[in-house]
Amino acid sequence: MELLFATGNQGKLGEAQEMLESLGHTVRQVEFSHRELRSDSLEEIARDSAEAAWLACGQPVFVEDSGLFIDSLNGFPGTFSAWVLEKIGTDGILRLMGDRDNRRAVFRTCIAFHDGKGVHTFSGECRGRISREQRGGGGFGYDPVFVPEGHEQTFAESITLKNKLSHRYKTLLDFSRYLQGK
Ligand code: IMP
Repeated sequence: MELLFATGNQGKLGEAQEMLESLGHTVRQVEFSHRELRSDSLEEIARDSAEAAWLACGQPVFVEDSGLFIDSLNGFPGTFSAWVLEKIGTDGILRLMGDRDNRRAVFRTCIAFHDGKGVHTFSGECRGRISREQRGGGGFGYDPVFVPEGHEQTFAESITLKNKLSHRYKTLLDFSRYLQGK
């Protein structure tokens, strides 16, 4: 099945293509201009973007909204992750963390698929911790400072690891199961 993915993020696109194409789908990128909703809920943001994407392209389309939620920063940057990354980068996150012992964090994602009749959402997460320094050259965004639970390498150090257990991988899997059931 050909799936339209409305995103401007090449990292997300590559991961979705790798995962969904291995299951026999093709993923085509569409870009459209939309002012993202401000909300504490990834699902609310993703739903709103899916509605807008459907109106812009008139075909079934999915969007994805993600965020990094850091325990000791009360869930910051959360749904503001893109803006925070742009303003202070992963260096800024490491500075904010200082030498805190509680480094627990979770990546969360919500995929919203508009099939022309309505929006279906799929959510997933990946627990882990913030490293004490940046490590690795792969991935994108916060990958150099995120270490998944039970592992020592950051996502940026091991894309193989990321592609097996990331928030995005799990959520795409749910999404593809839903598509298969249709
Ligand atoms: P948004 O979903 O486009 O709003 O992205 C939120 C922010 O989190 C962006 O800065 C992304 O680069 C970052 N981000 C989203 N997914 C990942 C990921 O899998 N690894 C690292 N950073 C991510």
